[in-house]
Amino acid sequence: MAEAFVSAVVGEVASKAASVAAEMISLGWGFKDDMQRLGNSLEMIGTFLQDAEGNQKQMNSVKLWLKRLRDVAYEADEVLDEIAYEFLRRKVEIGDQMWRKVRDTPSTVTFQHNMAKKVKGILNSLDDLNKIAKDYGLQQLAIDQRIFIPSNVETVSFLDDSNIVGRKNDVSKVVDMLLSPQDDRTVSVVPIVGMAGIGKTTLARLVYHDVDVERRFDVRFWVCVSDDFNVKRILREMLEHDMNYQQTSIPQNLNALTAKLKGKIEQAKRGNEQIKYLLVLDDVWNVEQWDELMWCLEGVNKNRGNKVIVTTRIEDVALKVETLPNQRHQPGKLKDEECWSIIKEKACGDSPISPSLVLIGEEIAKQCHGVPLAAKVIGGTMCKIERSRAAWLKIQNSDARGSVLSVLRLSFDHLSSPCLKKCFAYCAMFPKDFCFRKEQLIQLWMAEGFLGGSKEMMDTGNRYFHELLSNSLFQDVGKDRCGNILTCKMHDLVHDLAFSVSKFETLIFQENFISSTD
Ligand SMILES: Nc1ncnc2c1ncn2[C@@H]1O[C@H](COP(=O)(O)OP(=O)(O)O)[C@@H](O)[C@H]1O
Ligand SMILES: [Mg+2]
Repeated sequence: MAEAFVSAVVGEVASKAASVAAEMISLGWGFKDDMQRLGNSLEMIGTFLQDAEGNQKQMNSVKLWLKRLRDVAYEADEVLDEIAYEFLRRKVEIGDQMWRKVRDTPSTVTFQHNMAKKVKGILNSLDDLNKIAKDYGLQQLAIDQRIFIPSNVETVSFLDDSNIVGRKNDVSKVVDMLLSPQDDRTVSVVPIVGMAGIGKTTLARLVYHDVDVERRFDVRFWVCVSDDFNVKRILREMLEHDMNYQQTSIPQNLNALTAKLKGKIEQAKRGNEQIKYLLVLDDVWNVEQWDELMWCLEGVNKNRGNKVIVTTRIEDVALKVETLPNQRHQPGKLKDEECWSIIKEKACGDSPISPSLVLIGEEIAKQCHGVPLAAKVIGGTMCKIERSRAAWLKIQNSDARGSVLSVLRLSFDHLSSPCLKKCFAYCAMFPKDFCFRKEQLIQLWMAEGFLGGSKEMMDTGNRYFHELLSNSLFQDVGKDRCGNILTCKMHDLVHDLAFSVSKFETLIFQENFISSTD
């Protein structure tokens, strides 16, 4: 059986169901809830897949389960195609303008009725498959981002250093530590430690892309760890993301994973016997399994000179992971003029600014306390407001002084509409460091009713997405090869902000007191 396809098919059909459901919502079709359930159900079942694919060699029953799932996914795909074709046919036949008016003609009702029956049948089959999976003891893995992220998106190592200010000295210090000839261990660890938003991830990216680093390390990996420090996941991501490994051939067992990774690293030899790797573990919060990870990392390549960079805001993590007492880096705060340069670039681009505005801007920059994240976010807000002394003075005199979070809060307060605020706050329900898929996020906003009921929902969703991006409340976009934005992330401090404003009372309050521009 072509089991390699099952993950891909299920993921693809799940996202197709989400987009058909969105269209159905906009047209007021009757069984939209079932359609959403179909998408969710496929996603849920996708969480069993990894285990199933790992187990199938031993169990014929699991093989059968995978085969049935594939068949149900194909059946769902056919129904979705039929519905999508019907949308299209009617649009062409009736004309876009008339479409909403005629949605309840008898033939539409019959079509909807037939499709609703088919979808119900598929949902029942999926329920059965879910039950069987549990009976087989397939472990349900936490929702795996493979379903959300298309494989052609680069989520980590992309580097847009065009607007990075300062940090040249920081980069060369870290690079020197990585290239130091004195250190002849198999694996050495260099922590980058500092407060949230100070630029640790950005610095690690600059180092990762440094030409000398690229030359020294034959293989480089980047894994965003966040608060889920799981050795197997880290090794799996090393195999998957940076080496274009086929998802289905990734083993589950730690020894097998280590052996596979060793084999892949050796493939990069190309005549060079002293091959070395660099691994960046970004945003590490706990290190309970650290020794286990180090044991595996030493196993995957026995040569000396492999390096690991760990970025963390926790001093104790840095203490635990550092190889030598002074082998760590703590990026300092940016200078006020550097923060001003970030703000100016975000708020005004290349256009000239009057000296009186510059003076106010420089004062605002001081309120960022040298934290680039604050400068970026406040610059994004200033880009949206009138470029006048009065408007800028209002920012300067707001209560944002004091903490980075209050600067971020100011940016939230300036979002252009209460609905957009809801969309932003909604993102708090995703885990920290979650990689959002743009289309899927907009569809979720739609399904929640945040984008109104008009046919322009998709446009509104796109506009909201771009406003959050230009305010730097979203960041780290992943693009396809044509430059279209596919994914993005939220900085974890921004996630804290979303969480703090996601309380119901806050949104009601905002809705009553802030005028909508929608
Ligand atoms: N030197 C810099 N110049 C301009 N922007 C920066 C700089 N350092 C960080 N940033 C921006 O600030 C934000 C937070 O940086 P990040 O590296 O994610 O912080 P951390 O990892 O310390 O929490 C990001 O949007 C990043 O692009
Ligand atoms: Mg970071």
